[in-house]
Amino acid sequence: MTVPAVTLPASSGRSAEAAADSILERQRARESSARTYARSFPIVPARAHGMTIEGTDGRRYLDCLSGAGTLALGHNHPVVREAIQRTLDSGAPLHVLDLATPEKDDFTDALFETLPTAFADRARVHFCGPAGTDAVEAALKLMQTATGRRGVLAFTGAYHGMTAGALAATGSVAVKEPVPGGGAAGGEVTRLPYPYAYRCPFGVGGERGAELAATYTERLLADPSGGVVRPAAMILEAVQGEGGAVPAPDGWLREMRRITRERDIPLIVDEVQTGVGRTGAYWAVEHSGIVPDAMVMSKAVGGGLPLAVIVYDREYDGWLPGAHTGTFRGNTLAMAAGAATLRYVRREGLAERAATVGARMSARLDGLRSELPLIGDVRGRGLMIGVEVVDPEGPLDSCGSRPVAPELAARVQEGCLRRGLILELGGRFGSTVRLLPPLVITDEETESVLERLTDAIAEAFSYGAAGRAA
Ligand SMILES: Cc1ncc(COP(=O)(O)O)c(C=O)c1O
Repeated sequence: MTVPAVTLPASSGRSAEAAADSILERQRARESSARTYARSFPIVPARAHGMTIEGTDGRRYLDCLSGAGTLALGHNHPVVREAIQRTLDSGAPLHVLDLATPEKDDFTDALFETLPTAFADRARVHFCGPAGTDAVEAALKLMQTATGRRGVLAFTGAYHGMTAGALAATGSVAVKEPVPGGGAAGGEVTRLPYPYAYRCPFGVGGERGAELAATYTERLLADPSGGVVRPAAMILEAVQGEGGAVPAPDGWLREMRRITRERDIPLIVDEVQTGVGRTGAYWAVEHSGIVPDAMVMSKAVGGGLPLAVIVYDREYDGWLPGAHTGTFRGNTLAMAAGAATLRYVRREGLAERAATVGARMSARLDGLRSELPLIGDVRGRGLMIGVEVVDPEGPLDSCGSRPVAPELAARVQEGCLRRGLILELGGRFGSTVRLLPPLVITDEETESVLERLTDAIAEAFSYGAAGRAA
């Protein structure tokens, strides 16, 4: 670990812990009750480097959350710092709306170099407001404008963001239910089944489940009494992130491409979390070879700073000047940090490394299932890994899966934090432990993550077993 030694506000020991506690206390008192990660991780980060975060109390953690998948190169990577420093030193304006700048030009070059050729050749880019959800809104609006249609096809388990249109397309009932109309303000959404072998919507699992999901979609759209007016777009994730690291089979994705193309429905692939090497390919669409009509990008494309874009086929470029504006579309530092990150990931073959390390981690975790049967399923793609935690003695369903065990999953997460490992829960009922380490994770760090996670799972298993015996 190479975090440079600097003096902390309270350097160590009890006084440092007390200082951290009072910061946490003030946050609890003053911030919104929607605080999220801060609830599971009551730590006060002071410095970070690579995949290590150090708290103001001097405790160190391996960060397998990476800013929810934003930090492809981990914290404070030298190429990102150098790009930011160089831009600051150059005196470039830090905010320019959507004016042309050398940094934007360079970012666009770097981005287009990474795109599948068939897509890049016909691509247009639109810089959106800075968050992933802004880019999702832009993509939906673009396709509504281009097609003159309104509705959207979206999937069970999907996560697209928290603003109206993105929330409407999102699957999570928990975030929609408290909003009157359940997020309906974002427009009419037809919910389709996403292939999820372990909790198959058709109760069969495996390839057959994915085939049925495709057949259902095709027949519903073809049915003149199916109730679905031809929509403006279909939006999907090639690997569902917040949904629990659920990868769609390549064959199913190709079916979605065929079905949408045959019906003249634009296909939007949301690569906000899967992009920039995370899944073992630069863009997750490359695994299946599909060419979408639009891709939504954020998180890692800004090198850790806020940046979001949509890239789409020029055929859909029907917006009038000013049709989709926004103040924060010209973040020069994010463009410089993003261009440096995009190029580094390509130059260093980090997508390939994500594929190799991810396969190793997944295989090791999968190998623990017989010994630690609260591991119900290990899945994902590249360094986007999910471990679904189940009740090891619950009844098997028709797919051979056991019931979710969110309390045990929370115990695993808490046990990991005690061991100095930060990782997030996601998926149905928050029962999937999610690993999103930076793509630069070393072999040594990989081993530490696996060791700490295995110990925490074993501890939760013993706790569960003790509870059952009592
Ligand atoms: C696939 C996907 N789309 C959209 C978003 C929304 O991005 P943001 O949180 O930056 O609005 C997320 C966030 O996790 C995401 O995973």
